[in-house]
Amino acid sequence: MGFVTFEQKGAIGIVTIDRPKALNALNSAVLADLEAAFDGVDQETVRCILLTGAGEKSFVAGADIAEMSNLTREEGEAFAKKGVDIFRKIETFPIPVIAVINGYALGGGCELAMSCDIRLCADTAVFGQPEVGLGITPGFSGTQRLPRIVGMGKAKEMIYTGKNIKADEAYRVGLVNAVYPAEELMAQAEKMAARIAGNAPIAVRASKKAINDGLQVDMDQAIVIEEKLFGSCFETEDQKEGMAAFVEKRKVTGFKNC
Ligand code: CAA
Repeated sequence: MGFVTFEQKGAIGIVTIDRPKALNALNSAVLADLEAAFDGVDQETVRCILLTGAGEKSFVAGADIAEMSNLTREEGEAFAKKGVDIFRKIETFPIPVIAVINGYALGGGCELAMSCDIRLCADTAVFGQPEVGLGITPGFSGTQRLPRIVGMGKAKEMIYTGKNIKADEAYRVGLVNAVYPAEELMAQAEKMAARIAGNAPIAVRASKKAINDGLQVDMDQAIVIEEKLFGSCFETEDQKEGMAAFVEKRKVTGFKNC
């Protein structure tokens, strides 16, 4: 995997897009490596994933404009599908994924961050969907996820104007969960990941699935999805241990993912 690295620190997996010379722009090779990195995650031992970009300047500065510049309509659509499918894999990945946004998150970079469960960014981060200035629409699901996250009005403003926003505005409109000084970002992300990793993995994964799947259907169907996932946690060793620890007024001895 030339353009994406994977490191496991205890129960935390760190996926880094590593093409800093091009500000981590997503070409076909980077996309393939990103998919391979997620396919390779050991879902038994990894309980939370951090997704970030190499270097100090950029998370991901978008899809690779040079690669896209001469595509035909069919090739353009196929390129979009490649990105969209991988981002959907990340969004529905059984383990929570936190985007650690260390700089530019433009176009496909903003879209990649939006496919993650939680977004934490540096105070130097910049977000935007500049595609219309290049003569295209956002192509890695930005027209769909941005309005779902920040609301239709703000999404339309960002997409139609192509104007970038800084970290403080991204926080204000709900695009990111928190903003940290750049030098503290990774430590803060690891702290959140460790907190998530310390909870019962089956329950965390079921919560992710309940939220994701429930938001796709009407409320009557959504509550049934939740009921079933709630039920699925029972009789697990972790449910028994979590509740026994509370009743016995002691700390959990450690969740086992079973
Ligand atoms: N694609 C290809 N190469 C890119 C790139 C991209 N999206 N973004 C940056 N690069 C490359 C530059 O071409 C440059 O390469 P060279 O050194 O070989 O010339 C290198 O990264 C450094 O970039 P800059 O010299 O431009 O750095 P800067 O600090 O002056 O500017 C920037 C930084 C404002 C992010 C600027 O690079 C920029 O505007 N990049 C493009 C952002 C963009 O439009 N992204 C959306 C792409 S379209 C998309 O993503 C479609 C989709 O939804 C699927």
